[in-house]
Amino acid sequence: MKKINIGVVGLGTVGSGVLEALRDNRDIIAERSGVILEVKTVCDKDPSKLEQAPGDDRSLRTADFNDILKDPEIDIVVELVGGIEPALTVIKGALNAGKHVVTANKALLAESWKEIIELAASKGLLVRFEASVGGAIPIINTLRESFVGNRINAVYGILNGTANFILTAMSSGDMSFQKALKIAQDKGIAESDPGLDISGADSAHKLAILAMLCFGQEVYADDVYTEGISSVGTQDVVNAARWGYGIKLLGIAKNSEKGLELRVHPTLIRLSHLLSGVNGADNAIYVQGDLMGESLLYGKGAGKYPTASSVVGDLAGIASRISFWKKDPAAVSAGIYKFKKLSSRKMEDIELAYYLRFSVIDKPGVLAGISGVLSEYGISIANVAQEERNEGETVPVVIITHKAREGDMRKAISKIDSLDYVTSGTVVIRIED
Ligand code: HSE
Repeated sequence: MKKINIGVVGLGTVGSGVLEALRDNRDIIAERSGVILEVKTVCDKDPSKLEQAPGDDRSLRTADFNDILKDPEIDIVVELVGGIEPALTVIKGALNAGKHVVTANKALLAESWKEIIELAASKGLLVRFEASVGGAIPIINTLRESFVGNRINAVYGILNGTANFILTAMSSGDMSFQKALKIAQDKGIAESDPGLDISGADSAHKLAILAMLCFGQEVYADDVYTEGISSVGTQDVVNAARWGYGIKLLGIAKNSEKGLELRVHPTLIRLSHLLSGVNGADNAIYVQGDLMGESLLYGKGAGKYPTASSVVGDLAGIASRISFWKKDPAAVSAGIYKFKKLSSRKMEDIELAYYLRFSVIDKPGVLAGISGVLSEYGISIANVAQEERNEGETVPVVIITHKAREGDMRKAISKIDSLDYVTSGTVVIRIED
């Protein structure tokens, strides 16, 4: 059976998971793909990770990734370093050396996908990145192959396991934000900088990758309006549930003749919505297209073995393609990469319903004052609730609005927040139908 040599750069959680999977499932991978995936060299700058690296004792261990790039026997380089550098140097070095690439690096792809894909295409090489979005969920290859005949109208979902784990813990009411984050870190789900999970940046990286594949436009993470989960309080989760909503951090991309809507933010969704039942570190991605209708892909969004599953799938895919299909391998996927300049919608022009939590002094005229400002900006109220408190104390007032322009909402909130009876910044959470 043909053997394909692999070099793995980066032996963190996912890297060691990939090595274990290639060792333990070597036979079934060979049976199914017709190729033996042989790890020839592993690389990490940390000597203890090199020492503990699971896998074949025959594989070489090195702290210098150039040992992999310079080795003419290595066919595929797996980049699992994460972050921008040296990951970009590793990937470009591998392609320039004539090697195919598998990567899980969403932050890098969301910034430099065009440079990487164009370099690969110019060399007739393949770059696969299934593990970059949704852990074990096969969304990337589904978009590139199974759904390729569709005009996609919308793609959205729960793209970050850590944020979803924290929000799920808050909704069950038995765990603090910090404790939930700590558990996510211990499970190997969170980024090495968990700020990326909480700020929404990791979801924005993933949304940019999905949107560029779905809509064929030049989307980068900076094009995505991004808000994280730190302003969401347990009381918001409880209030939302009272009106039949759950709160999820969603990445949303919707296409219309007005342009592409790209946003990541905490979102109220109906408890009956399929995404409401996606809990813990799980991810789910909803896609809507003209031929396939609606589809929901659900599964493990993060973690050692789920992410390794996607990396190994990409490796087997490239290995069988280069072994059995000798013509220009890049031609198969070239059609997807005819990108148009991004035509995006301004966040201010998007119309959404809102959940608003005001912190106000409980005294006569306060509700009238707030509703007066909302009405000044053409914002219509759908529901109001206020907890009972003694006059003069601070109380939360929660208002659900009908759809309003984001730009008008921002102006109204800024005016309301400057009123003397408003004691702290208003919590604003958008609602998705
Ligand atoms: N930190 C990411 C998450 C890992 O929590 O989803 C998977 O990309």
